Amino acid sequence: MEITVAKSAGFCFGVKRAVDTVYSEVEKGGRIYTLGPIIHNDEVVSDLEKKGVTVINDTSQLHDIKEGCIIIRSHGVSKKVYDELVSSGLKIVDATCPFVKKIHGIVEKDSREGKKIIVIGNPTHPEVEGIVGWCVGNNSATVIENEDEAADFEYDKNNGITVVSQTTFTPGKFKDLVEILRKKGYNVNVVNTICNATCERQEEARKIASEVDMMIVIGDSKSSNTQKLYEICSRECKCTLYVQNTDNLETDLTGSLQRVGITAGASTPKNIIEEVQNYVRINF
Ligand code: F3S
Repeated sequence: MEITVAKSAGFCFGVKRAVDTVYSEVEKGGRIYTLGPIIHNDEVVSDLEKKGVTVINDTSQLHDIKEGCIIIRSHGVSKKVYDELVSSGLKIVDATCPFVKKIHGIVEKDSREGKKIIVIGNPTHPEVEGIVGWCVGNNSATVIENEDEAADFEYDKNNGITVVSQTTFTPGKFKDLVEILRKKGYNVNVVNTICNATCERQEEARKIASEVDMMIVIGDSKSSNTQKLYEICSRECKCTLYVQNTDNLETDLTGSLQRVGITAGASTPKNIIEEVQNYVRINF
């Protein structure tokens, strides 16, 4: 059996940078907190917990912290949360991915100039919640996730609109949603902020999935970019599995497999990808 592992599988630049930042703060010593789990991966989060890193869920918990360092994860945070962190007087280490930071800057600048902001993405994803929170003045952002929402969008057609995207959104779907807004007659300034790492990962996954008998997508069930990979691969390969690690791998489907493809979301550590690859080699 031939196994193809996507070259782009696993940690992206921003996630690696954030995880490395936490480990490097651990080395320096002192109390360390992350605002939310540093990545969508239970194994990494529990390893860090063992090293004394505590996850706090929101800024209301800051009152109980007298000393230490708070790390902002790669998803970034809203301006309100950022300001609360800074005014806490604790040491703040900002591991927001620079590509996400760039979106914050666009949203802050354009909303300050009076433009309406549209974010194409999932409204409940922390990255999108953070981006929306960089709108300043009286402007609030609208999040559009699907065609119905784009079709229902209503706003003053004389007003400028800036459209940005969640970094992990699917490029084709982003284009379709922008097209709907344009057809409705809106004057949109579109800034495609989808991350290249995401595009490359999705394109490579799509290609591998179209050539194999079984495709395995590894990642946490809460990881948005892994869910998108699963959707893309499922369209190309009927037998696509979504697993977090080897525990979820079904072997009863594997009798006549000749080619298996493997990819993984941006929060999946290399060792889990290797474990799945070895498991497939031995058991399938
Ligand atoms: Fe950053 Fe792109 Fe990863 S935006 S966090 S490098 S997917």
